[in-house]
Amino acid sequence: MIASACFTTLLFLLLSQDASGAPTASPTVVGRSMPIRRLSPSSQNLTLVAQQAKDQRDILGVKYGGQLLQQRGTGYNLYHTFADRTCFNSYYGTIAIGTPPVSYDVILDTGSSDLWLTSSICGPGCGTSPTYDPAKSSSFQNLSTPFEISYGSGAVAGYVAEETVQMAGFEVAKQGFGVVNALSSAFNTNPVSGIMGLAWSPLSSTQQTPFWQTLASGGSWDSALFGVQLTRYGNVSNAAQNEPGGVIDLGYTNSSLYTGSIEYHNLVGTPQYWEINMNTLTVQGKSIDIAGISTAIIDTGTTNIAGPASAVASIYAQIPGSQAGTGQLDGYYTYPCSTTVNVQFNFGGNTWSMSPADFTHSQVSTTECLGAFFIASFGSGGPSWVIGDAFLKNVYSVFKYSPASVGFAALSETAISQNGIKAAVPSPTIGAVTAATNTGAASSASSGAVSSGPLSTLLCFWLASTSIAFLFW
Ligand SMILES: *[C@@H]1O[C@H](CO)[C@@H](O)[C@H](O)[C@H]1NC(C)=O
Ligand SMILES: *[C@@H]1O[C@H](CO)[C@@H](O)[C@H](O)[C@H]1NC(C)=O
Ligand SMILES: *[C@@H]1O[C@H](CO)[C@@H](O)[C@H](O)[C@H]1NC(C)=O
Ligand SMILES: *[C@@H]1O[C@H](CO)[C@@H](O)[C@H](O)[C@H]1NC(C)=O
Repeated sequence: MIASACFTTLLFLLLSQDASGAPTASPTVVGRSMPIRRLSPSSQNLTLVAQQAKDQRDILGVKYGGQLLQQRGTGYNLYHTFADRTCFNSYYGTIAIGTPPVSYDVILDTGSSDLWLTSSICGPGCGTSPTYDPAKSSSFQNLSTPFEISYGSGAVAGYVAEETVQMAGFEVAKQGFGVVNALSSAFNTNPVSGIMGLAWSPLSSTQQTPFWQTLASGGSWDSALFGVQLTRYGNVSNAAQNEPGGVIDLGYTNSSLYTGSIEYHNLVGTPQYWEINMNTLTVQGKSIDIAGISTAIIDTGTTNIAGPASAVASIYAQIPGSQAGTGQLDGYYTYPCSTTVNVQFNFGGNTWSMSPADFTHSQVSTTECLGAFFIASFGSGGPSWVIGDAFLKNVYSVFKYSPASVGFAALSETAISQNGIKAAVPSPTIGAVTAATNTGAASSASSGAVSSGPLSTLLCFWLASTSIAFLFW
């Protein structure tokens, strides 16, 4: 409905602007990319890894706990991502928000659907990252819908507002998002100030249409999809805290980054998560039984790979010397680091191999490593698997609006050569206009690199978001 409203408006604008009366050409072909940066945990001792491993399990259980709709209006996804960030590697990019625009670093999360930012009145719990100040923006509009959520040891609270948001040269006016006023636990999130959720609107806790979906449904992109390439540092012992993390291509796929064709798989059911069906999973050449437990969410915001207990046990059964973890490592397995573990996924087309480097989450003793696969049960209605970055680093992945699908393609030599190169961290690309960089303490955010945005397409976004606001409020 939104899509067709916007499309009609766009057509109308194009036709009315065409003095010759001849059929107008299709809308301006647009696609833009933004570098992704990768954040590593600051230290990796066993105590910390174990604590973080437990957190990852607890949080995923909450995020995908089979009560998806009940989670609307909550801040669980926010907590998930911040905690995940503290635990493990995160891939993040830069957005600009407000008038005048100010830039912020946000986690790019295909496993959730809200944009969240910590606000300037948030207490110490929000850490040292730059925060959003509504008083400094003329485009701030308070929707005054409060949200609050308690979790194990703390709480998240704030309200929903609308703002002008830009990412990679695209702009959406009146983008609804969550302004976080309180995080009771101290999360060390610097330089990240929030999350950009890249899944579908039915999941949105703030009940807003996600930024990407407004753009994709508005017909303003060359292709209604986005592509993601993530770099690997798994076997580089001393990767810096910030490294080049790959790229997100909005509105097109960059054929320099992959070879062959993109293999698309339609989403399972009504689009909420990027959830597809897995056909086969093999470990050391042996097929794992996934009959009846084959749905998988493709989640850039999760570091590892979660699956049902029976299947995860059979995965490690293929690895002599592997052992189920206990205590904080409950649900995880350790295995001899000397074993090269080959895992292959098949979603109904090609077989995609995961690098043995990505099977190793971390080394936990002189001989033992923690594996990337862990047990999580999401209950009925939840997915069976959550496939995170450990796999996604091995492919160019594509998230397509229509037909709603996830695609994978083989990485090109160009893409592979960007793994672990320890190059300079890329400058953020922000939006259509120069944005001030809101630097927090020790923030590595660089000055706002600028790319120009096409005004014609922005108009449609404005109209699209107006209709969205109308439909919702
Ligand atoms: C592990 O790291 C944590 C957090 O940095 C620190 O508090 C703890 O003392 C470290 N433990 C060891 C054994 O080094
Ligand atoms: C926005 O509305 C919420 C809920 O009414 C309120 O708590 C908050 O202070 C408002 N924010 C601003 C900046 O006015
Ligand atoms: C580490 O990664 C590089 C680049 O991806 C690769 O060439 C090398 O073989 C890897 N080394 C090990 C021990 O896996
Ligand atoms: C595609 O990727 C290559 C390799 O990273 C890069 O040099 C090029 O600028 C990208 N092209 C576009 C259109 O983004």
